[in-house]
Amino acid sequence: MTVRDLLEDGTARLATSGIASARAEVEWLLAEMLGVGRFRLYLDIERPLPEAVARRFAAAVSRRAAREPLQQILGRQAFCDVSVTVTPDVLVPRPETERLVEWALETLPWRPARGRPLVVDVGTGSGCVACAIASARPDADVVAVDLSPAAAAVARANAESLGLAERVRALIGDLLAPVGAARADLVVANLPYLPRASLAGLEPEVREHEPALALDGGADGLDVIRRLVADAPRVLRPGGRLVLETAGGAQATAVAALLGRAGFHDVAVRRDLAGVGRFVGGTAHAVGAGQVIGGGGAA
Ligand SMILES: C[S@@+](CC[C@H](N)C(=O)[O-])C[C@H]1O[C@@H](n2cnc3c(N)ncnc32)[C@H](O)[C@@H]1O
Repeated sequence: MTVRDLLEDGTARLATSGIASARAEVEWLLAEMLGVGRFRLYLDIERPLPEAVARRFAAAVSRRAAREPLQQILGRQAFCDVSVTVTPDVLVPRPETERLVEWALETLPWRPARGRPLVVDVGTGSGCVACAIASARPDADVVAVDLSPAAAAVARANAESLGLAERVRALIGDLLAPVGAARADLVVANLPYLPRASLAGLEPEVREHEPALALDGGADGLDVIRRLVADAPRVLRPGGRLVLETAGGAQATAVAALLGRAGFHDVAVRRDLAGVGRFVGGTAHAVGAGQVIGGGGAA
């Protein structure tokens, strides 16, 4: 079998299974298996491949045809300027979440005179957000929290393999429970936000292969976010920021209202790549703004 034969057979198989981007996906699978870039495949497309490669490729195509996510088969996903290991215990990092990181980085103060900024990534999953922030900001420490011990283990392993383990601490816990009062400069979170009733209608890749704990936001999708917004003022330093990803649209508006009621100011909504308002941010009260936050004060 040649490169061309495998690409054509694999594409036909995935297309029959209803996968829209069948050709691109078989290119990713074969390129990864051969250890080359996707476009290198075409430089030697009549090259015959060993039987063992053809067998491994066929096995990978069968998994994808059964609607296992491509990233779980490849075992990795690029995210911002890092690449993280992905397992069935964690959500596959999504491109829109890179915008959450962009906003988080914009809001994180540079303040060498006041010690290292502390970021808390709540619901860290693979640790993609925590590692991307730590990679972009070598002066910052990141606490990465997940309720799932298996997800926290993946985040820890990713931080280690990226050489970030000294600055990214992956902890098992419920939301901000592991974080002390008035310590954080930034709380960033992409928590489960889907209404429970919508889960049955998701694509099989998500519904059957990604953890329900990463998706299920309760009856209106806001169960987990609501609890985080209520507790975030406790852990943020005065002037610290909370930045969240939501399902977008009406849910973003509802979350902005939650932040307002919790005492955040400068509450804003940012759009995703499709132009939908999806990310919500707000600032915890500054010193002297009339609210005492925690007991620690500013460092
Ligand atoms: C939507 S996934 C996001 C994962 C990762 N931050 C990302 O953007 O790819 C939500 C994550 O929140 C975690 N989670 C759900 N409820 C939680 C809670 N009460 N406390 C901490 N983590 C929670 C899930 O286990 C899951 O890893």
